[in-house]
Amino acid sequence: MNESAVTEIPKVKTLPDAQEVTEVTHWTDRLFSFRVTRPQSLRFRSGEFVMIGLMGDNGKPLLRAYSIASPNWDEELEFYSIKVPDGPLTSKLQHINVGDQIILRPKPVGTLVHDALLPGKRVWFLATGTGIAPFASLMRDPETYDKFDEVIMMHTCRTIEELEYGRQLVENLINDPLIGEMVEGKLKYYPTTTREEFHHMGRITDNLENGKVFKDLGIAPMNPETDRAMVCGSLAFNKDVMAVLEGFGLREGANSEPREYVVEKAFVGDGI
Ligand code: FAD
Ligand code: A2P
Repeated sequence: MNESAVTEIPKVKTLPDAQEVTEVTHWTDRLFSFRVTRPQSLRFRSGEFVMIGLMGDNGKPLLRAYSIASPNWDEELEFYSIKVPDGPLTSKLQHINVGDQIILRPKPVGTLVHDALLPGKRVWFLATGTGIAPFASLMRDPETYDKFDEVIMMHTCRTIEELEYGRQLVENLINDPLIGEMVEGKLKYYPTTTREEFHHMGRITDNLENGKVFKDLGIAPMNPETDRAMVCGSLAFNKDVMAVLEGFGLREGANSEPREYVVEKAFVGDGI
């Protein structure tokens, strides 16, 4: 057993913002998801993020931003996380088990919300890596299907195994008793890899620019009259996708000024 496998998760039971871990799933050596109890007072809009974490070695909370991956009707909260080997938080967080406590500040915020988009016919969810987390929430929210006739989830990772969390989520959605019927026929899932052979490959930016995704799905190209988009990935990804969306005539919106697309960072500090 390696040393990190026996890391002890600090207990935070005495803190008012402690929540209990109810489920942990490891997807790859770099990715895991977990569910925790939901504070009764917590209301959020699907797509928002909160600060979560553990007690640091110095006795102070060590918190990071995390998109809530569960929909707002869920009794629990779900998160989808990277494991950064030397990351101050995730080097520890990756060892949580059912029954452990995490800290969760119940103050949701964020730009990937329906309120920040003008009404439209199609909505595009564009994500790389853990950037799918806010869309895991939005894809499970009935409001998404009330507001749009078509929902297109493009998710790109380097390898097939990194797509698995999203793949299972979409598959389970169809069988969901609450919104399975709403989703059928409306949700189009377009996963791609960039570094492993797969039936659909390529970066989201390239597949939008060269029209491959429109051709593969048999749909019309993006049009600012009908299309809306939400973007979540690395800074470099966000910047490049924004340029592509602007090329189609879409403009960036915000909570205070809804327009055709909105963007959120999936993480900070990737050197851009
Ligand atoms: P940090 O010191 O925070 O990060 C170390 C380095 O790891 C970073 O410089 C970066 O290069 C890399 N890194 C950090 N996060 C990621 C990531 N998600 N994917 C790839 N590389 C990364 N992280 C999640 O895993 N799931 C989420 O839902 C999520 N939502 C976020 C929402 C917002 C608005 C922001 C700003 C960040 C979000 N993050 C998310 C990133 C998260 O806040 C932490 O950075 C991450 O948990 C790593 O924490 P750390 O202390 O271990 O390392
Ligand atoms: P690629 O393999 O061509 O770099 P990462 O694991 O580095 O965070 O990347 C996740 C996915 O996002 C990868 O498939 C990667 O493709 C893709 N990607 C990274 N940067 C960009 C970008 N600037 N524009 C579009 N896709 C990107």
